[in-house]
Amino acid sequence: MITKNERGELVIGGVSAEELAEEFGTPLYVYDEETMELKFHELWGSFSYVPLKILYAAKANSNIHILKIFRSLGAGLDAVSPHEVLLGRMASFPPESILFTGSSVSNEDMRIVAEAGAMINIDSFSQLRRFSSLFGRGKVSIRLNLGYGEGYHSYLVTGGRTKFGVRLEELKDVLEFSRENGIDVVGLHSHMGSGISDHVLFVKALNDLLAIAEHIDSVEFVDVGGGLGISYRKDDPSLDVKSFGKELSLTMERFMEKTGRRLELRVEPGRFLTAEAGILLVRVTDIKEASRGSEKEYFIGVDSGMGHLIRPALYGAYHEVVPAKIHDREEITAHVVGNYCESGDIIAKRVRIPAVKEGEILAIMNTGAYGYSMSSNYNLRPRPAEVLVRKGGRAELIRKRESFEDMIRTML
Ligand code: LLP
Repeated sequence: MITKNERGELVIGGVSAEELAEEFGTPLYVYDEETMELKFHELWGSFSYVPLKILYAAKANSNIHILKIFRSLGAGLDAVSPHEVLLGRMASFPPESILFTGSSVSNEDMRIVAEAGAMINIDSFSQLRRFSSLFGRGKVSIRLNLGYGEGYHSYLVTGGRTKFGVRLEELKDVLEFSRENGIDVVGLHSHMGSGISDHVLFVKALNDLLAIAEHIDSVEFVDVGGGLGISYRKDDPSLDVKSFGKELSLTMERFMEKTGRRLELRVEPGRFLTAEAGILLVRVTDIKEASRGSEKEYFIGVDSGMGHLIRPALYGAYHEVVPAKIHDREEITAHVVGNYCESGDIIAKRVRIPAVKEGEILAIMNTGAYGYSMSSNYNLRPRPAEVLVRKGGRAELIRKRESFEDMIRTML
C-alpha cells in the first residue's frame, strides 16, 4: 500500500519514501507489489464468468520484474511490439498466453511474433493479406474498430475515426478472405481507448463482438481490450469494477444460453493494474517566485521532468504531487516544474502544496503506468532507476539508473 503514516511520512509497502530516495537517489520510480496484486484480485474477483483471461498490457510498465508479477498471478500478456512479445517470453509467459496487437505492422514484426509463438491480432486487411502470404494457413484474432470509443484525451481514444482496427464495413471481405485462405478467426477484439469510467460502454462493445461471433463458428474468445479508468483526482469518476465484472459476466452467460457456446472472455488492462502502484520520487532543486500581480505564486523546480513523465505535457494529465514528509508548513500556490528546456515541462500546474524547501523530496503520484515506459533521453538526461517494494517490505532495485555511457553507447 502507498499511504501516509501517523507522522505524515509517505510510506510505500511499509518503507519510507524519503529513505528510498536517500538510498537509491533521485529521480526514482518506486512500485508497490502489494498494490498490483490487490488490483489484479479486485478485477479478477469481480467476474463470475469462466473461462476468463486477464492480459496485462505490457506497454503500461514493461519492466520484466513487473511482467513476472502478473505472470505469477496467472495473467496473460497484451503486447504491441515484437520486443514486448520477446520480453514476455523471457518473463515466462507461455506463447499461447500472449496476444500481439500491433499498429502499422511490418512483415518483419509478424515474423518475430510468429516465431515466438504468440497469436497475432490482425489490425487491417493489408496485414491479413500479408499474414497469408508469409505463413499460409493459421489462426488469428481480429481487432475490430466498432466505431466508438472514449479516453482521458483525444489521443487516447482508439475507436471511431482513428488508425486502429478493421472497420465493420470491411469485415465481410476480411472474413471471406480468411475462409478462402484457410485462416481461422479464433478471436474477436476491440480496444476502445484509455480511461473509460463507464462500464456500460464495455458491455456495449461486448454485445457487438458477440453479435459478430454468433456467425463465426471458429471464434473461441472475445476480448474487450483495456482502458479501465482510474481516478487521478480524488473526485474524478472511476470505473465501478464490481459492475464491470458482473455485467460482462452476465452478458457472456446470456450468449452461452442463447448459442450453447461458452467462449473465453478476455480483458487487457494496463493502467488499472499498475498506475496506482507507482510513484516518482524527485528532489526539489530550485525555488523561484512566479507571482503575477498581488497573488503569490512559485515555481518549484525538481530534478526530473517531461523526459521521465511525459503525461502532463502530452495529454495535460494531472498527477498529484505530495511532499514525502509533511512538515507543519503553510500551503503555497505553485507550479511544479522540471529540468528540461521547454516551457511545457510542467509536472503540476498551479497547485496548492505545503511550502517545501530546496533539497526536500516530492512524490509524483499514480505514475506506475505510462511513466517509465514512455520516458526518453531528451536533453541527454539519463532515465531514472526503478525500485520494487516487495510484499514484506524488501526494496529491490529492478533497473539501474542510466549513465552517460549508457546513453551514448549506440552513437557511432
Ligand atoms: N490493449 C490495447 C490494444 C491497447 O492499445 C492498450 C493501450 C491497452 C490494452 C491498455 O490500456 P489501459 O488499460 O492501460 O488504458 N500513454 C497513454 C495510454 C496509451 C494507451 C495505449 N493503448 C497514457 O499515458 O495515458
